[in-house]
Amino acid sequence: MDSVDFDALELAARAQLPPASYAFGAAGADDEISMAENIAAWRGLRLRPRMLRDVTAIDTRVTLLGHQLPTPIMVAPTGRHKLFHPLGERATARGVAAAGAVYVMASHSNILIEDVAEERRDAPQWFQLYYWPERTEVEALIDRIVEAGFSALVLTVDAPVGGWSPRAARDQHEPTPEILNINMPGRPMARTFYHPDFVGKVFYPATWRELEWLVKRSPIPVLVKGVLRGDDALACAEHGARAVIVSNHGGRHLDTTVTTAAALSEVVQAVGNTAEVYVDGGIRRGTDILKALALGARAVLVGRPVIWGLAVNGADGVTSVLDHLHVELVRAMQLSGTARLSDATPDLLAS
Ligand SMILES: Cc1cc2nc3c(=O)[nH]c(=O)nc-3n(C[C@H](O)[C@H](O)[C@H](O)COP(=O)(O)O)c2cc1C
Repeated sequence: MDSVDFDALELAARAQLPPASYAFGAAGADDEISMAENIAAWRGLRLRPRMLRDVTAIDTRVTLLGHQLPTPIMVAPTGRHKLFHPLGERATARGVAAAGAVYVMASHSNILIEDVAEERRDAPQWFQLYYWPERTEVEALIDRIVEAGFSALVLTVDAPVGGWSPRAARDQHEPTPEILNINMPGRPMARTFYHPDFVGKVFYPATWRELEWLVKRSPIPVLVKGVLRGDDALACAEHGARAVIVSNHGGRHLDTTVTTAAALSEVVQAVGNTAEVYVDGGIRRGTDILKALALGARAVLVGRPVIWGLAVNGADGVTSVLDHLHVELVRAMQLSGTARLSDATPDLLAS
C-alpha cells in the first residue's frame, strides 16, 4: 500500500467504499471549517531547525501514564469500523499492535471489547467512554473494560449532543444487523449521530460531577478528551484526570472552534505538571507531530488516515499508516537537530 500521501490514500479508500461509509468517515460538521483548519494550522507553523547536532541516534520513546512506548503516535477512537472493513476493530487493533502504538478503542465499535483485547501485544489499549444516563450500565461496562485488560478510560466530553453534518446526512448508512454498537446496552444497530431523529437529544450528559464520580469508580486512570481551553483542562486535572486530550473531535460536532494547534499552548501552560497533555486533529505529517511536541504535547493521536488505511488494506493498512508517520517523525527530528523528544521545545517553532 502506498501511504506516502494521505490524500491519495483517502482517494483510494473512497474509490472502494460504499458512498455512505466514506461520507461517515470523511464528514466534518456544518461547513467543515474546523476539520480543514485543523490540518492547515499545523501546516502553517514554521520550524526553526537546529544545525550541527548529532542525529545519528534518534530516540522517539515516550512514557504515557507511566508506560514506556516506542512512539508518541496513538490511534484516536473512531467508531463503526465494520463500515470500512469486514473485520472491523479487530483488524484495526491488530494493525495498531503491530506498530507498537496505543489503540484507543471507541465506545461505538462493532467488535466486542474482549475480541479487540485478544489482538493486544506489547502496547496498552485504552477505551474511549461516552457517559450515558444509566449509571449502572456505565459501571457494568467499566468492569468489562477493566476485566479485558484495558489500562485507561478516555472520557469524551465534546459531544453531549451530536453536531450536524450535511455531507453525512445526505449519505446516511442504513442500519443493518451486521453493524451493531455491540458493546452498548441492548446492542443496538449503529446509526450515525447525523440523523434528523437525534437533533438536539442529549445522549451523553456528563458534567464535572460525573467526571468526579468516574475518577473515583474507575480502577484505571481516567483521561478527558475534547478540551480546548486552559481553564477546562486544569479543572479536569483537579477532578482527577491523569491526562487531557486537546481535541475538537476532528471538527465533527461544533464547527468553527479554535484549531487544536492553536489551543495546545494554553492547555499545556494551564495544566503544568498536574496532567499529561495529548493532542489530535489534522495530524498528517511527521512535521505536524514534531510541532505538536514542540508546543508541549506529550503525544498525538491520529483519526481519519487510520480509517483510510483500514479500508484499503485492513490491519496491514493500519500498520502502514502508523509506520509511515513514524518514519516521517524520525526524519523531521533528524533534519531539525532533535535527537530526543525532550529536545522538542517551543523555540523549535517561529513565533
Ligand atoms: C469516523 C470518525 C468517528 C469518530 N468517532 C469518535 C468517537 O466515537 N469517539 C470520540 O471520542 N471521537 C471520535 N472521533 C474523533 C477522533 O477520535 C479524533 O478526535 C479525530 O478524528 C482527530 O482528527 P483527524 O481525523 O483529523 O486525525 C471520530 C472521528 C472520525 C473521523
